[in-house]
Amino acid sequence: MIFDVLTIFPGFFTSPLAESLLKKAIDKGLIQIRVKNLRDYAKDKHRMTDDYPYGGGAGMVMKPEPIISAVEEVKAEDPDTLSVLFTPQGKRFDQQMAREMIGQKHFVLICGRYEGLDERVHLAVVDREISIGDYVLTGGEIPALVFIDALSRYIPGFLGCAQSVEEDSFAHGLLEYPQYTRPPVFREMAVPEVLLSGNHAQIFRWRRRESLRRTFQRRPDLLDRAQLSDEDRGFLRELQTQEGMAGG
Ligand SMILES: C[S@@+](CC[C@H](N)C(=O)[O-])C[C@H]1O[C@@H](n2cnc3c(N)ncnc32)[C@H](O)[C@@H]1O
Repeated sequence: MIFDVLTIFPGFFTSPLAESLLKKAIDKGLIQIRVKNLRDYAKDKHRMTDDYPYGGGAGMVMKPEPIISAVEEVKAEDPDTLSVLFTPQGKRFDQQMAREMIGQKHFVLICGRYEGLDERVHLAVVDREISIGDYVLTGGEIPALVFIDALSRYIPGFLGCAQSVEEDSFAHGLLEYPQYTRPPVFREMAVPEVLLSGNHAQIFRWRRRESLRRTFQRRPDLLDRAQLSDEDRGFLRELQTQEGMAGG
């Protein structure tokens, strides 16, 4: 998978891409990340990438020419490239969107700054507008890293244990069950006995139920879209009854 990243702060990516699994994936050739400095696409002698907004108002706006030239250069090399603009006004990124995008082999990621981009960039070269949540960041670099990380986890060989991605929170519409490691007792808090039993069927059932309990308690909105068996539904009814009784 190739990610071309367009930014005016290329140094932002140095450390995140030089650590841990993303670094290993780059070294193994599973992903290729090409960070491009938008200033290199500015034609004027000061290499300007922003200017004052027409109509007045606070802040600066990113100029259209450097971004459009950079996206067009990438698309000329590979017409199947999907251009993604990070903006708080885009569609909210989630696990489902990450999963849907893994068929795509080449992305060009546009990182905005200041007050955002001249609207003509959106009209000329943007295929998708993505927000990573309902808050405003100073730039699109962190959203780009979030996007790269979330998609890369699906690439075979990226994770040490391929199963993890299928068991993580949201994989089947539920939050993940609680995890434990050694020691078996810490400050009088014991690891649930079933996890020490070696009985895989019981462990599987316990994890499923804890996953349902967590989602019910913390993110009940997810349950509407989750894939649930009859047994799951029965357990959720038990939780509802318990909650009703606790509430008086
Ligand atoms: C300060 S923001 C601009 C916000 C813009 N004035 C608005 O109200 O929509 C600067 C840049 O950060 C990025 N950004 C900020 N928040 C984001 C979010 N929640 N999701 C994705 N990108 C975001 C975008 O690339 C944006 O162009």
